[in-house]
Amino acid sequence: MAPDLPCILYYFFFLLLPSSLVAQRNGNGNVKVGDSLTAGDEAALWLSPAEDFAFGFRQLGQKDLYLLAIWYYKIPDKTIIWYANGDRPAPKESTVKLTAELGIVLNNPQGGEIWKSGPGNGEPASGFMNDTGNFLVANENGEKLWQSFDFPTDTLLPTQIMEKGGVLSSRLSETNFSRGRFQFRLMPNGNAELNTINLPTGSAYDAYFWSNTVDDSDASNAGYQVVFNESGYLYVLRLNNKREVLTPGRVVPATENYHRATLNFDGVFVLYYHPKNSSGNESWSVVRTMPENICTVVNGKLGTGPCGFNGVCTISPDQRANCSCPPRFSLLDPDDRYGGCKPDFPTQVCAEDVPNAPEDYELVELDNTDWPFSDYERYTPYNIEDCKKACLQDCFCNVIVFREGDCWKKKLPLSNGRKDASVNGVSFIKVRKGNDTLPGPPPIPKKNRDRLDSSC
Ligand SMILES: *[C@@H]1O[C@H](CO)[C@@H](O)[C@H](O)[C@H]1NC(C)=O
Ligand SMILES: *[C@@H]1O[C@H](CO)[C@@H](O)[C@H](O)[C@H]1NC(C)=O
Ligand SMILES: *[C@@H]1O[C@H](CO)[C@@H](O)[C@H](O)[C@H]1NC(C)=O
Ligand SMILES: *[C@@H]1O[C@H](CO)[C@@H](O)[C@H](O)[C@H]1NC(C)=O
Ligand SMILES: *[C@@H]1O[C@H](CO)[C@@H](O)[C@H](O)[C@H]1NC(C)=O
Ligand SMILES: *[C@@H]1O[C@H](CO)[C@@H](O)[C@H](O)[C@H]1NC(C)=O
Ligand SMILES: *[C@@H]1O[C@H](CO)[C@@H](O)[C@H](O)[C@H]1NC(C)=O
Repeated sequence: MAPDLPCILYYFFFLLLPSSLVAQRNGNGNVKVGDSLTAGDEAALWLSPAEDFAFGFRQLGQKDLYLLAIWYYKIPDKTIIWYANGDRPAPKESTVKLTAELGIVLNNPQGGEIWKSGPGNGEPASGFMNDTGNFLVANENGEKLWQSFDFPTDTLLPTQIMEKGGVLSSRLSETNFSRGRFQFRLMPNGNAELNTINLPTGSAYDAYFWSNTVDDSDASNAGYQVVFNESGYLYVLRLNNKREVLTPGRVVPATENYHRATLNFDGVFVLYYHPKNSSGNESWSVVRTMPENICTVVNGKLGTGPCGFNGVCTISPDQRANCSCPPRFSLLDPDDRYGGCKPDFPTQVCAEDVPNAPEDYELVELDNTDWPFSDYERYTPYNIEDCKKACLQDCFCNVIVFREGDCWKKKLPLSNGRKDASVNGVSFIKVRKGNDTLPGPPPIPKKNRDRLDSSC
């Protein structure tokens, strides 16, 4: 008689083995209709054949919220290159499933739809996570119906092409994948541009970087695609096949390195590479940043600039925005250095009945700092003492900038603030004398910063 015990053990072994490890790992990048993944199940992934990329859920910060995403699977950074539901994070136990009717569908635990790829022009039969970072949905003849490369988020990868009308959109912050304030677009006229947007509506403000691939006199010389070729070169391809290469010099070989072009949340479009078989401490290296100085090129009467209203942008050594607040101002959102600043004192207003006599205010000097689009008066020729006097006596005036005999009066909120040697002038900001702070509730304890666990 066969002993029962080993059998029971065997049975228990199977019960205890996480079913996800057995059931949900796909093989060779392939996904079938009916396959699904569950948010919160860390072993549930759809991997590309060589495991360069994973498709699945990533937890957002410490919250039980998840992002349906594609990321580099092998490197320690696990850098995310595509996401489906940045504006609508999914609760734990949400599922993503490949269906014949709707393509890839992301549902919350109650079955409510959060996002779907749509069936495309046919009936989905299979999915495939390619080693290029592209997730494809195909019909039963293997014809492509949908691919993530056609719907980029903030990143382009080698072998990816952006057609006219294509858009990359920055995220709101490093850890918040909602729509941010910046875009990279290939315009109908053939120019690839970086521009700011009005956040709630998404409508475009002024551009701050151009590929200069527009040619009004010769349409064949205008750009028609942004191409990231398999060797890791990013360029705008003109109709006449000439290239405007955005990658300077030679790039490191794509066989041994990952390349990506990401529009960061501070508006800087960066080309990066990373060794594929990094031994652990290498990270992303920069090939090029566009523009070189985000602080001085974001201009225009509308919008806040890289550092939010009243903020001041200083370019950091790695050509990224470093934001700060003027003296006696503090962050609007203590957890968002890029979100703008508010005065910590009652600002002067032109009204009766409020204690705002000119003698209650003084001017604090700022070096090489300007908010170029907040002017309302210009006095020229003028001297610096008369300029200061003109501001102190004017209850509308919050800031003056003095440069080469010109005195500019400015008002709140200040936009596109920058501190840069090119400003070449002196500015003064009007603050209330003494240490009067705004009456109000005691400061709220600093919230735990949401962090995306990069080591998961
Ligand atoms: C996956 O990427 C490779 C390399 O670009 C390409 O040759 C292949 O056709 C892609 N597979 C599918 C199913 O698109
Ligand atoms: C991202 O920021 C938006 C706007 O501030 C906020 O509504 C949303 O809750 C944030 N998302 C996460 C996951 O924190
Ligand atoms: C990619 O583009 C660069 C720059 O134009 C070119 O030198 C290289 O040969 C291209 N690679 C391939 C595989 O076409
Ligand atoms: C990385 O690749 C290089 C060449 O391809 C090889 O010489 C090296 O041993 C590899 N390093 C690791 C840590 O695998
Ligand atoms: C990784 O870091 C350690 C300690 O900082 C250093 O000794 C080692 O050389 C580094 N390895 C690489 C490949 O940079
Ligand atoms: C940002 O600027 C502050 C000074 O305003 C400096 O202390 C800090 O190191 C800078 N950060 C970076 C990343 O450059
Ligand atoms: C305001 O407070 C700071 C530090 O709390 C102090 O150094 C400064 O002298 C005060 N200024 C006035 C005008 O009271």
